[in-house]
Formats: sequence, C-alpha cells, structure tokens
Amino acid sequence: MAYLLKGVSILGAAPTDLHISDGVISAEPAGQDAEVIDASGLVALPGLVDVHTHLREPGREDAETVETGSRAAALGGYTAVCAMANTSPVADTAGVVEQVWRLGREAGLVDVQPIGAVTVGLAGKQMAELGAMASSAAGVRIFSDDGFCVADPKLMRRALEYVKAFDGVIAQHAEEPRLTEGAQMHEGEVSTRLGLTGWPAVAEEAIIARDVLLAEHVGSRLHVCHVSTAGSVEVLRQAKARGVRVTAEVTPHHLLLTDELASGYDPVFKVNPPLRTRKDVEALRQALLDGVIDVVATDHAPHAVQDKECEWSYARPGMLGLETALPIVLSVFGPKWELIADRMSIAPARIAGLDSHGGDLTRAGTPANLTLVDPAARWVVDPAELASRSRNTPYAGHTLPGRIVATFLRGEATVLDGKAVK
Ligand code: DOR
Ligand code: ZN
Repeated sequence: MAYLLKGVSILGAAPTDLHISDGVISAEPAGQDAEVIDASGLVALPGLVDVHTHLREPGREDAETVETGSRAAALGGYTAVCAMANTSPVADTAGVVEQVWRLGREAGLVDVQPIGAVTVGLAGKQMAELGAMASSAAGVRIFSDDGFCVADPKLMRRALEYVKAFDGVIAQHAEEPRLTEGAQMHEGEVSTRLGLTGWPAVAEEAIIARDVLLAEHVGSRLHVCHVSTAGSVEVLRQAKARGVRVTAEVTPHHLLLTDELASGYDPVFKVNPPLRTRKDVEALRQALLDGVIDVVATDHAPHAVQDKECEWSYARPGMLGLETALPIVLSVFGPKWELIADRMSIAPARIAGLDSHGGDLTRAGTPANLTLVDPAARWVVDPAELASRSRNTPYAGHTLPGRIVATFLRGEATVLDGKAVK
C-alpha cells in the first residue's frame, strides 16, 4: 500500500507532504493508488523503539502475549520493542529467543527483538548460551537478567567480556540484593511513615558504580535499565565524562510519579525499582535533557489481576507502559519533538542495533517506520480500553495530552484513526 500524508509536520517543522511507497519514504508521489491521509495538525516521528518491554510469552499468556503486547506497542506509536527474557521458560537458549522472535513476526505489528538472559534461568549462577542466542535467527544483541540483578561481579565481568566479541550489550537491573531484602518501596520518609521495608537508593547506585568500572576495565558495553535515583545520575555522569561505554534508560513512571503514591497502599503503584522522591524525579528529567540518560524505556510490565489486586506486600511489581509512554513524556517535557524522537526512537534503535528504525523521515529511502501524533488531542486513560491483556496502568482516569493517530511498519499501517488495523 502507498500513502500520502498531506500536510504533516515532521518533528514539528512546517507542514509538508510525505510519500510512502514500497516500504520506504519516497521523494515521488505514489500516484493514483496512494491512500491520502489528511495529516494537518499531526506530527510525524520515527517509529518509537522500546528497549525494555515485558511481553510475558511464553508462560504468562494470561497477562500478555506477543500479539497483545505488539498491538499495545503499535497503538503507543512503537515500531519495535525489545522483549525481556524473564518469561517461563526463561529466554536463555536459542530455542526460546527464536520462538519469541517468530511470534513477533507472526503478529506483524511491531518488530519484536528478543533480549536473551545473561544467566541460566536468571539464577545468577551460570552464564547462559549468549553466543548461540546471538547467532540464532533472532540475532540477540542485548542480554539481561532483568527482574534480577547480575549480582556476582565475576559473572558480570565474564558476561561483559563475552559479548564484546560481537558488540553485544549487557543490560543490568541494578539492585544489590543484600540491600533490598524484603523491600516494598523506596526507603525514605514515606516508607518510615507507612512502616514498609525500604529499597534504598544506594542499592541501585552501588551496582551502577561497580558495573561502570567493570565495563571500563573490560572495554565493553553496559546498559543500565530503569535508572531511578539522583545518585545514579551522578555516577553515570562521571562515567560518561570518562568515556565509559555506558548507556542508560529511564521509565515514563520514574519521570512523573513519586513514592508518596504508596500512601494509599494501592499496588498499582508498586514497581521495581520503586517510585522515588520529587528530587529524584527532577534529577532524572534533567539527565534525560542533558543526555546523561540516553533513552526512555517503558518497562511495560503487564500483570494478571490476581497478581496485582491483592495486598501490597504480595503484589507483583510493575506497571503497563506502552500505550501511555509518549503522552506521559509529552506531558512532562512539552512538544520537544527533536528530543522525543532522539530519546524514544533514534537512540534506542542505536542501542538495540535496529538499523531500520529511528531513521530520518526527511530522506528518501528511509524505511517507513513512523508514527503520527495529534499533539492537540487529550484523552482520558480507561484501563478497559487498553489493548494490553492486563489492566495495571497507574494512569487510570488521568487526562493525557497526545494521541497516536497512525503507525506504519515498513510502509504498512499497523494503526489508523487511532485503531489497530489487525
Ligand atoms: O517492576 C518490575 N517489573 N521490575 C522488574 O524489574 C521486572 C518487572 C516484571 O517483570 O514484572
Ligand atoms: Zn528491571
């Protein structure tokens, strides 16, 4: 299918016509058959890329499947997502990563790039078959035990050494487990008031400090998942200034929400790492603006009702993110389209090695992976209307700016008029 996007604003620039044919941005009008979309007032962004998505398949298809998660992603403006390895069975072999990759292709709504586990069964004891996953059809590039920290420094060093050979990345869930035993929320004034065991900021900062030193020593690539504290930002700032090969992500929820929300004991606000303080939120925002934090990643973590609507201490940590990420970022930073395109598409595509994503929409021949946003539209988040199979959004009832009107994957619409096409 060919498309003509009439009067679209590319990254906030003056309105223009954008032609899509044969899967790429075209300099020439496609002719009579092109479907014309009135895109006046709409902003085109390169398709968003999420380096941190939990799709739950295989194993917890009651919470999400590759297909339902892919649909949520497309509706959120994404054209590629990296699927975390903490499935059941764990994605720690070529067989499992190929299965996830194939399910993504079958769903055909976004490119699903599997992340492989660093250690067998995420148990932190023995390195998984990183090479076999890298050379499999899935072409794994990022490895992570996310949900758990690779706490053993020797294993972390070996993993960094191993992936260096094929320019792989170790994505660390930075949490020193001895410092977070029994932790329920951020350690601070609010946890003291509520009498809940705290997850101290230093448990994250100590691992990031250790890992940037290891990455520097090995000369390998480290990516830090869901950075959540002001202290972590300072560690990263110093490491980057020294030229360490480290990249970092922040979630939309850590850019907006604070630990005060735990006061109501509503487990929808339980997440790992936990919501922090206003001071941390301010530091994370500044770090994203400065580039000390490279990307926004959703940590989309769907959970079945029984795993979330229970007592705080029993509830699983995690929140939905794919369908609200861009609106949240827009509400925090305003229409800074260049920034949004870089932190939500260009930089994540670079980190994940997804060369056909995050391209320049003004150049003919760029793969037509893009999304159209209506920045003027405001909408109320209704959990029942989300495409995700789960309902655990922390934004229920919030009015958010910015609506995804259309998304294109290799020139084919996955979303039109704000609805998934399949
Ligand atoms: O809140 C979280 N949920 N943090 C993680 O690290 C894992 C994730 C999940 O899998 O639910
Ligand atoms: Zn994590």
